[in-house]
Amino acid sequence: MSDIAHSTLQALRQQNVPLLFHYDDLLCNACQKSPPLFGETTYADIYHEAACDPQWLAISLITNAEREGDGATRLWSLAASTPDAGLAAQIRQHAIDESHHARAYVQMLDIAFPGAVDRKLHAQLLTLSPGYSRQQAPVAVPGSAFAHPITLDDLIQMNIAEIRTRVHHLMQRPILLQFCPVDSRPRLARILDRLLLDETRHVAYTARLIEGFCTQGEAAQAKALMLERMDDFDAITRHELELRVFE
Ligand SMILES: [Fe+2]
Ligand SMILES: [Fe+2]
Repeated sequence: MSDIAHSTLQALRQQNVPLLFHYDDLLCNACQKSPPLFGETTYADIYHEAACDPQWLAISLITNAEREGDGATRLWSLAASTPDAGLAAQIRQHAIDESHHARAYVQMLDIAFPGAVDRKLHAQLLTLSPGYSRQQAPVAVPGSAFAHPITLDDLIQMNIAEIRTRVHHLMQRPILLQFCPVDSRPRLARILDRLLLDETRHVAYTARLIEGFCTQGEAAQAKALMLERMDDFDAITRHELELRVFE
């Protein structure tokens, strides 16, 4: 089993996700046949080298906030367009989480790099989060490519994206804590803990839903899609690595 499949499945077991007969196998198969760059040591080394520059790290927190906000908006459209109420509720919660994460990254910027951005920019950064809450009903963004009922393919892409986000999170954590003023480290660590828990939960619920599709006769399709999308993500990761973007 590859390291990335192993560490992901281990994290799922710690979240009390039982062995998933199909999902566990298709993740291991895809990681073995097409080992993702984001699971390799060289990738972590390049990240580490870039993140040791505090300015780069501060900007990457802003990029993270932007990506989390975008992700939330896409999920909101998917939730609004998915007729199955149970499924829609899970996607909606995911959108709310990512919306909180956009704020959390701005908060982490404030804590780790106090005074790094002026008030005007700070106010703009807060608008990166769409601000979704449990009190709001999801509405699809008109014309959005995500205004459609969620598919197995969407879930597989979300699952891989969340695995990659988890890897980035684990790489970012120690360096961010190192730059953070000592007094503020416990506060920062609490936010980081919450983020890691959420991202692991996102891997977990999408894994369970993929398993559901597999048990309903779509196992072969899921296996092929997992492999295809793992390759696609690898191409995206390679491109983003050239731009030194990690999300
Ligand atoms: Fe997130
Ligand atoms: Fe997530």
